[in-house]
Amino acid sequence: MNSALLRILLLVGGASAATGVAAGLSRLGVDIGTPPAWTVRHGPLLVVGFFTTMIGLERAVASGRIWTLVAPTLAAISGVALLAGLPGAPWMAAASALGLVVINAAIVSRQAAAFTWLMLAASGLLTYGHVLWAAGRPIPLVVPFWMAFFILTIAAERLELSRMAPVPRWARRLLIATATLLVVVTMLRSLPTGTAGIPRWSAVAMGCLIAAIGLWQLRFDLARSTVRHPGQTRYIASAVLTGSAWLVPTGALMAICGLPPAGALYDAVLHGVFVGYVFSMVFAHATIVLPAVARLRAPFTPVLYVPLALLHATLIARIVGDLTASFWLRRVGAVGNAAALVLFAATMTTAAMRASRVAHAA
Ligand code: HEM
Repeated sequence: MNSALLRILLLVGGASAATGVAAGLSRLGVDIGTPPAWTVRHGPLLVVGFFTTMIGLERAVASGRIWTLVAPTLAAISGVALLAGLPGAPWMAAASALGLVVINAAIVSRQAAAFTWLMLAASGLLTYGHVLWAAGRPIPLVVPFWMAFFILTIAAERLELSRMAPVPRWARRLLIATATLLVVVTMLRSLPTGTAGIPRWSAVAMGCLIAAIGLWQLRFDLARSTVRHPGQTRYIASAVLTGSAWLVPTGALMAICGLPPAGALYDAVLHGVFVGYVFSMVFAHATIVLPAVARLRAPFTPVLYVPLALLHATLIARIVGDLTASFWLRRVGAVGNAAALVLFAATMTTAAMRASRVAHAA
């Protein structure tokens, strides 16, 4: 596969992440020169421009087939279109998600297993959510599809890895049943409701299922045993377990308090999943995925524990701020979240540059 194209897509995805986070900060009044129009594109920039590009790239590199690059390329272009304010960006996002469906369907046809079906279902939900968004549904009504996509994709990967752990068959079936119910509940909640937020019953059901997936990971994930190994293996397992832990209070909060279309509770539920769970998994796997995608060696360094700890500590502050109506604490926490992401990117870049210098010197 063409390394130059892979690196360009990686850079465009990284630019979407940087502008997306800056736009998120400007929503909290932290102005770092972001154009006001970007503020409303914060969520899509991160979900489509960054994550869909990265997930698509990882799938494309794993499959080794050139046509699979269509999905991440469309996602990256959609990110650029969002920044440029082009009206077709959501449809392009839907097309890239459809590309993920095609890739996942090809994987299912080669290996029909519960985890491959779950990944296919997750990308189907993403596509459907993007189509609703492109057709004009407000983002708060589409967000549950995005949350379900991430949670199901990660749960499917953990299910695959559970084959290497002493997980009882009933526990594996339990995860498959819980994840399948999450697909069904997310689809059902797309029925027209006439309300501004998501319907109460579906917030209760989704919240309980999200918390259940978190509890499952804390009890059965392979990371429970790999955390005893030293070095990079322990770091990855720590990030997986601390990330999984976020699903439990976040799901409980959603089940008890619902998911309003804006405000502190909305912020807490969304970022408990997107920052606490999803970014923790990114921190876990970047040391493996990045070298494969960018063809750059980024050796593990224990310094990576610093951004990981900062991410979780500042997310706790942000959510305590949300729940106690302390705007100041919420803002400090959110700035800390952004600082953790910057620190993580800087640590990875430094490690990659050092490895490249050593390789050239040898
Ligand atoms: C790391 C720093 C981040 C900051 C400072 C931030 C900030 C914010 C703020 C202030 C809101 C509005 C909440 C409200 O209605 O009061 C928001 C919404 C949102 N955020 Fe973030 N966020 C961050 C990370 C993320 C990440 C990593 C994702 C996704 C992967 C994400 C996805 C979203 C989405 C989808 C919304 C809803 C947008 C909408 O309704 O238009 N955020 N964010």
